[in-house]
Amino acid sequence: MKDYRYDHWRMGYHLMPPAGWLNDPNGLCQMDGTYHVFFQYAPEYPKNNNKGWGHYMSKNLMDWTYAGMPLKTDQDFDKDGVYSGSALIEDGKMHLFYTGNVKEPGDHDYITSGRGAATVHVVSEDGIQFGEKQCVLVNADYPANYTCHIRDPKVWKEDGQYYMVLGGRTREDEGRVLLYTSTDMDKWKLQNEFSGKEPFGYMWECPDLFAVDDQYLLSVSPQGVPREEYRYQNIYQSGYYKLNGDFRGEYSLEDFTQWDYGFDFYAPQTFMDEQGRRILIGWMGLPDIEEEYTNKSDENGWVHALTMLREVTLKEGKIRQNPVKEYQQLRKQGEPLHAEKTYHLSNSFELDLRNPTDNDFSMLLSGGAAMEYKAEQKEFSLCFTNQIGAGRGKRKIKVNECTKLHMFVDHSAIEIYLNEGEYVMTTRFYPKDNKAVLLITAPTLTGNIWELGLQSRV
Ligand code: FRU
Repeated sequence: MKDYRYDHWRMGYHLMPPAGWLNDPNGLCQMDGTYHVFFQYAPEYPKNNNKGWGHYMSKNLMDWTYAGMPLKTDQDFDKDGVYSGSALIEDGKMHLFYTGNVKEPGDHDYITSGRGAATVHVVSEDGIQFGEKQCVLVNADYPANYTCHIRDPKVWKEDGQYYMVLGGRTREDEGRVLLYTSTDMDKWKLQNEFSGKEPFGYMWECPDLFAVDDQYLLSVSPQGVPREEYRYQNIYQSGYYKLNGDFRGEYSLEDFTQWDYGFDFYAPQTFMDEQGRRILIGWMGLPDIEEEYTNKSDENGWVHALTMLREVTLKEGKIRQNPVKEYQQLRKQGEPLHAEKTYHLSNSFELDLRNPTDNDFSMLLSGGAAMEYKAEQKEFSLCFTNQIGAGRGKRKIKVNECTKLHMFVDHSAIEIYLNEGEYVMTTRFYPKDNKAVLLITAPTLTGNIWELGLQSRV
């Protein structure tokens, strides 16, 4: 492994690539007590950008072991990437499903021709050694009105049936999701297709379909959605539709809601753990952003990280995300918050701020990350005013109120949870050292601030 002792952008409690490039979380699951987090991984980036799956394991979500790269490109049907996918645990076995990406040589646009997108199934008894890769669907099996952009199988079992959603792009350049069913995980039959009332982007990546309490959600990562002042401010989006009716047949989708409103979030995936918690992890990054803003840890030989693990719940009719409670174990000595004060901290801390009377407030972190709530406009914003944003400008959202703010800072990452996880903003930033200066200005507020320790990693 690389020696990162002097890299103050390495994080203390987010999963990062040991070296090289990371993108989407994949194959999230818990088997016999052990949590598995796989991820899109190109360890030799930028020399070799071919993606396989990297692998972290943990018994308690705090102590993580890097377990190598169990899936690499070694077949004709995945020669240009073991792309994103998911895990299903059954009878002590881990079933992984992924997309085998192939770019055929020749004169192709790689949208309507020249791209292979096989759905591949591979089984393991321990999550480390895997059996033979089996193609269960190939391009010819997908509906004829789709381009070759079909990928990212998310598989689950419900009522004795197996289900799989795949993200896709139609020949009319509309993003949609296909639902397949199976009784044996080998033969898959097309069962349904999901699209919004209006077309919404040209491609939907990384679909997921699950229920929180009794509310089904269809999660997708759409590309090609026009930017708006308070929404869809990144190049690509990630969010969910509440799905009503029957996902196997007649259904309707409510409006699209973003999972996250910060600069760096994409391609989330969820899983249910053995305690029955619905946990979401996102990629703390985006593709194709370089013209707008950058990720400076590239200079140090690693790029991107995953978000914290977030429990997804439904409370008072609202979908919420909050970091799983295990992170509280990282808290060191806490300090109560004061309305006007400057805090000198290390760059790893947690802030729990309460603003019960919904007043204006503002915070400035390390002279360059400005957070502001304007009660009259019902607007919360995050704005970088100097080079620590590496090109990041402003992100703002309309909120009903801002009575609670829960923030996690981790060396080069910030996650902000408003109103008990009703809105989330995730961003990377690149401070010049390992110290944080936090200035809080508010007429009334209460709360706590804690310095945070490190997770253990081997
Ligand atoms: C999303 C994505 C997926 C694909 C993977 C390739 O970020 O484009 O659709 O499977 O990344 O790394």
